[in-house]
Amino acid sequence: MTEPKRQNRAQQADEQEPARRVIISLVQSINGSFAEDGWSTGVSTDADFRRFLALRRSANAIIIDRRTALNPQLPVINAAGKTLAHTPVYVLTESDPDALQVELDARGLDYRAKIFSADTITEVAAALPTAPSPESRQSETDTAQSLPRQSTEAVLLCESGPNLAFRILEHCPGAELHLSVSPRYIRTPGSHFSGLEAKIDLRLIDVHTEDGQVFLRYRRA
Ligand SMILES: NC(=O)c1ccc[n+]([C@@H]2O[C@H](COP(=O)([O-])OP(=O)(O)OC[C@H]3O[C@@H](n4cnc5c(N)ncnc54)[C@H](OP(=O)(O)O)[C@@H]3O)[C@@H](O)[C@H]2O)c1
Repeated sequence: MTEPKRQNRAQQADEQEPARRVIISLVQSINGSFAEDGWSTGVSTDADFRRFLALRRSANAIIIDRRTALNPQLPVINAAGKTLAHTPVYVLTESDPDALQVELDARGLDYRAKIFSADTITEVAAALPTAPSPESRQSETDTAQSLPRQSTEAVLLCESGPNLAFRILEHCPGAELHLSVSPRYIRTPGSHFSGLEAKIDLRLIDVHTEDGQVFLRYRRA
């Protein structure tokens, strides 16, 4: 008698809380750089960008950090007429969401500032419609291999820098980190080889995993 009751309770919980999937998307260079001259685009490659777009099209909501939101050089994620015109964009901050919202509004950005806490991701997911957007349905084939999904689950895609990504991983059990490693060494002002001019293109020749460790083998392209 107890088993069906337990099942009913689990079923009720499922009905109350829509399934959600939290994906943190990060790209880094071989030497661990997340940005080149303040931009992640310098770290990315064409293949990384294709994956980035496929992930973005699968998202029911995008999560970014303050600096990404306020960077005037970045295109507006949900600009009118773009694929994600109706996708909510949340800017999560641990400081002052009201002041941040004023700044976002002043710049005409249709982004929602929200304080980041342990419950934020659950609140964002609860505010989303359960059915995937037409864009995400369309992208199911694009991402079928990388992003198998239930048709009713809401995908929250975090495109922030490493700071907020870390906070979400810390507080959100079940969040997935999608780490893309580009075959690039990046020279940044702070890197120990910042004085070197050499740029060497590399080609991945083998990937091996053991107990969660990933071994990558490269040769010069
Ligand atoms: N490789 C990738 O996949 C990728 C993706 C996105 C971004 N990036 C790059 O990562 C770098 C950012 O790294 P990060 O995550 O360590 O973030 P950060 O912007 O360097 O700093 C961490 C935190 O400091 C606070 N902050 C930043 N600027 C502020 C400002 N002007 N006023 C007040 N508070 C501020 C924000 O937290 P609060 O708002 O909570 O105060 C922010 O989340 C950028 O260069 C970006 O281009 C890389």
